[in-house]
Amino acid sequence: MGDGTATLDQVGSETTIDVPLAGRPYAIVIGESLIASAGERLATTLPGARFAVVSDKTVAGLHLAPLKASLEAQGLFLGSAIVAPGEASKSFPVLEKLCETLLELGVERGDCVIAFGGGVVGDLAGFAASILRRGVRVVQMPTTLLAQVDSSIGGKTGIDTRQGKNLIGTFHQPSLVLADVAVLSTLSEREFRAGYAEVVKYGLLGDAPFFAWLEQNWADVFAGQDGKRRHAVETSARAKADIVVADEREESGLRALLNLGHTFGHALEAFAGYTDRLLHGEAIAIGMRLAFTYSVEQGLCPADDAARVTKHFTDVGLPTEIAAIPGDAPTTGELLRLMAQDKKVKGGKLALVLVRGIGQAFVEKDVSMEPLTDFLKRECAPR
Ligand SMILES: NC(=O)c1ccc[n+]([C@@H]2O[C@H](COP(=O)([O-])OP(=O)(O)OC[C@H]3O[C@@H](n4cnc5c(N)ncnc54)[C@H](O)[C@@H]3O)[C@@H](O)[C@H]2O)c1
Repeated sequence: MGDGTATLDQVGSETTIDVPLAGRPYAIVIGESLIASAGERLATTLPGARFAVVSDKTVAGLHLAPLKASLEAQGLFLGSAIVAPGEASKSFPVLEKLCETLLELGVERGDCVIAFGGGVVGDLAGFAASILRRGVRVVQMPTTLLAQVDSSIGGKTGIDTRQGKNLIGTFHQPSLVLADVAVLSTLSEREFRAGYAEVVKYGLLGDAPFFAWLEQNWADVFAGQDGKRRHAVETSARAKADIVVADEREESGLRALLNLGHTFGHALEAFAGYTDRLLHGEAIAIGMRLAFTYSVEQGLCPADDAARVTKHFTDVGLPTEIAAIPGDAPTTGELLRLMAQDKKVKGGKLALVLVRGIGQAFVEKDVSMEPLTDFLKRECAPR
């Protein structure tokens, strides 16, 4: 610690990645039976705190009982607040109801909220914790692949509005992240695959050997075999932690690299109405493929690298084409309007994460609209 990078320790069946943020360092613990022992761990990590668990109905039905029992065994369980599964819960009405429920459960200034679910619960509960009584602590216990490798780490919280995704929110770093990879076994294959898009993202943005490893080992990662799933989670979580430590508030531009594929992807998600029609990770897979193809067209990236990306997404069953979205395709105008709503727009200028090759992402701060419009016209056309 102290050199500004995350450190990793493997002890027994757990791996701990320290996130040495100035003033609020925390640990990401990755392992296989972390839920049943969470109460004991939290009693020592956050002495004096009591815990209110926020989850969604699906996750609560599958996994809440052992968490509740372990908190109750320590006398630390305040109760739970359960929201409906799905992106629609990242909204003002649900946030309001959740804050009131947490107050009714008796959450006080020194207590802690546990976000127990996927990225939706993590973003919503993290936001609620950041504003409740002017800020209480949050522990992230991510239960989707996406949440374990991405959304639970780094402190971004928020909800969506009609204008776009995540436009209202805060930075609120967790006090601890407990990622139990065993819970991923109950995730649907489609959700696992969507989360896998974010795993691939770490290879594509800065770690070409990891991408090559994924090309070779993805089937075992999906099957949960030989510790390869855990290796993928750990490598990704560490990559995310390193970026967050180097650029916590997206000021130096490094953290912005995590948005590879996201400006396109968020626009596609908004177009699809944040529904099952297109999951976040699926939108991001299409977005990353678009970023690679556009980079090739701009003479920035070898065509072979873009072809490898398309092949890998196709191999694992992720979409790569706008035309793969069920129903009507967006028009170029719609897509550009939605991209302009994205928070990566500064002073009216669109910034895009582009690539010089696999593992070599960079931020282009002033994207020329003419070639981009022309590119999107071709991409939006029916295939
Ligand atoms: N804060 C950040 O830095 C950040 C980063 C990336 C994404 N996000 C946000 O994350 C959200 C997407 O997260 P997500 O993909 O985890 O979606 P999600 O939270 O909606 O979870 C997907 C589905 O899986 C179910 N589920 C969760 N865990 C399960 C389990 N173990 N077994 C069975 N079912 C389970 C949920 O009930 C839900 O239906 C988006 O809102 C996105 O904006 C935030």
